[in-house]
Amino acid sequence: PTIYAITPTYSRPVQKAELTRLANTFRQVAQLHWILVEDAAARSELVSRFLARAGLPCTHLHVPTPRRYKRPGLPRATEQRNAGLAWLRQRHRHQHQRAQPGVLFFADDDNTYSLELFQEMRTTRKVSVWPVGLVGGRRYERPLVENGKVVGWYTGWRADRPFAIDMAGFAVSLQVILSNPKAVFKRRGSQPGMQESDFLKQITTVEELEPKASNCTKVLVWHTRTEKVNLANEPKYHLDTVKIEV
Ligand code: UGA
Ligand code: MN
Repeated sequence: PTIYAITPTYSRPVQKAELTRLANTFRQVAQLHWILVEDAAARSELVSRFLARAGLPCTHLHVPTPRRYKRPGLPRATEQRNAGLAWLRQRHRHQHQRAQPGVLFFADDDNTYSLELFQEMRTTRKVSVWPVGLVGGRRYERPLVENGKVVGWYTGWRADRPFAIDMAGFAVSLQVILSNPKAVFKRRGSQPGMQESDFLKQITTVEELEPKASNCTKVLVWHTRTEKVNLANEPKYHLDTVKIEV
């Protein structure tokens, strides 16, 4: 199966560094199609140029987050992930009964992904799950597994979530995406940290989840976050005389 990775991304000083790291990982994964969705009113020069040289099958989309949703405490990248979902559904619109084998995964641009993770998710039948490192105020969060079934969640944060899992902790088969055409990320009524649960509720149940990574005992992805860069010494007047691509 092809792995479709949907990555929301937005312009900031570290953007190209993040995308470089991600591309260096994805380039080593067979049959991966990268759906990069810019949070912007148009596709940027920087990202277009970057993708042209990335050496990866990719689709470059864009949709701006409405200004009113750009506030701390509100979920990020809702519109961008939905744009990725819409593109996938459109591309496979004639295959509702029997889709080409495919697996969808939401790959934020700042996380760290091991290559093993892709081997694990590729065998997803409906919805698969695994641990995520460095998240929820702990070294890791993970689904608790008994007799091959998810029976609960090891988490330090909002344990009441129906699916106490980060965006990086699950994959969905293309077939499930196509047979649930209305499943999307929602702004309305979505509380912080509930995006994953709100989405997964629309397409699966906890009982149905397929545990990966040795019954969820291995951390293969980390919710790393990049420190905000210090640009205190950027010149205000004496600019570099050469135009530099950063
Ligand atoms: C956590 C989760 O891991 C994310 O999946 C979730 O979207 C996010 O919380 C949330 O609050 O909604 P966190 O590390 O806090 O992640 O979020 P970021 O990594 O800053 O953003 C998630 C993704 O959205 C990234 O790929 C980022 O590039 C993108 N993003 C962020 C935008 O497209 N626009 C923005 O304004 C901010
Ligand atoms: Mn992040």
